[in-house]
Amino acid sequence: MQLSKEMAAAINDQIKAEFDSAYIYMAMEAYFKDAGFDGMAHWMHKQCKEEIEHAERFIDYLYDRGARFIVPDVAKPKDSYESPLDAFKAAYAHEQYVTSRIYKLVDMAMAEKDYASLSMLKWFVDEQVEEEDNASSIVAKLERLGTHHLFLIDKELGER
Ligand code: FEO
Repeated sequence: MQLSKEMAAAINDQIKAEFDSAYIYMAMEAYFKDAGFDGMAHWMHKQCKEEIEHAERFIDYLYDRGARFIVPDVAKPKDSYESPLDAFKAAYAHEQYVTSRIYKLVDMAMAEKDYASLSMLKWFVDEQVEEEDNASSIVAKLERLGTHHLFLIDKELGER
C-alpha cells in the first residue's frame, strides 16, 4: 500500500521539526559552553545527535515506503537563556510540543488506517515518554538543588 500524499507531507514536516530540535539543542550546547558548563553542553551535544537520528529514522521510513524526502529549511534557534534552569525548562517545553506533534501523526495514521505508519510511530510515542522524563528530571533537580549545586549537576550531566 502506498503512503498517502498527506502522510508523506506530514512526515516531511516532522523531519523538519526533528532538525529544528537538533538546532535548538546545538544552540543550547553553545550557550552552556560559553557559560562554562561543559557537562550540560555535553548533554545537549548528545541530545542534538539523538534528534538527527530521529530525523534519519523518519527519512528511512519515507524511503522504505517509496515516498519523497524533501530536505527542509531549519529554523534559527534561540541563542541565549537566563540560566541553566531556563534552558532546561525550554527543552522540556519543547519535548512536550514534539510529543503533541507525534500524537497528531498517530491520529492521522489511525484515521487513514495506515497500520505501517502506526507501527513506525509507536517507537516515537515511547521515545517521547523518555525524552520528556529526561528533561523534566533535570528541571526538577535544578529547582530542588538550586544554584549552589550547579557544578555538581553539571558534572553529573557530563556523564551522559
Ligand atoms: Fe525528537 Fe526530542 O524528540
